[in-house]
Amino acid sequence: MPQPENRARACCTAQAVNAQRRRIIQIAASGLAAPLALMALKADDAWPKPADGDRLVDESAEGVPTPLRLSDVPVDKPVLAYPFDESQNMVRDDSHLNKVVLMRFAEGVLDAESRARSAGGVLAFSAICTHQGCDLKTWSTKDQLLVCFCHSTKYRLLEGGTVASGPASRSLPNMPLKLVGDVIVVAGGFSAQPGGQVS
Ligand code: FES
Repeated sequence: MPQPENRARACCTAQAVNAQRRRIIQIAASGLAAPLALMALKADDAWPKPADGDRLVDESAEGVPTPLRLSDVPVDKPVLAYPFDESQNMVRDDSHLNKVVLMRFAEGVLDAESRARSAGGVLAFSAICTHQGCDLKTWSTKDQLLVCFCHSTKYRLLEGGTVASGPASRSLPNMPLKLVGDVIVVAGGFSAQPGGQVS
């Protein structure tokens, strides 16, 4: 018998497929030629995006999705997570581009811009390297930099996700957070399109 988590994910995958089918029918009905319709779908990036009010769940957690709380994110240890629409019981993991890396800092070390989009000192960025799309999950405590294990790009999370050293040239998109009680909640979408140059 399917586990609750699998049922929820199967449900949301089916919803996404149905939504895409409806869009194809609408585009076809509008008289657009097939190639143009496919281009429109591709440009639309059809997977469900993170939204204001989403919770976050650990990407490696099993069983029923459990929203992350402030105490679930330790200092100096990145946590990879996916947005979670609690009202639909839907983890937004249809695309790895929705994956975020959470890092917790003492609020005193955050500048005003970072503090404004943090939740109790937790900052969220895209977890996808902007070079070639590897997951970002290595934190250098000594240098205070997030490091890509593929080709060693280093990102300054305390300076807006800017690149400290390449080969990546583009900053990491960030995602604003807020706290509801002690639950970490998404306060808006990514600041820019997440993903690597070839992802
Ligand atoms: S994929 Fe991250 S540095 Fe190349």
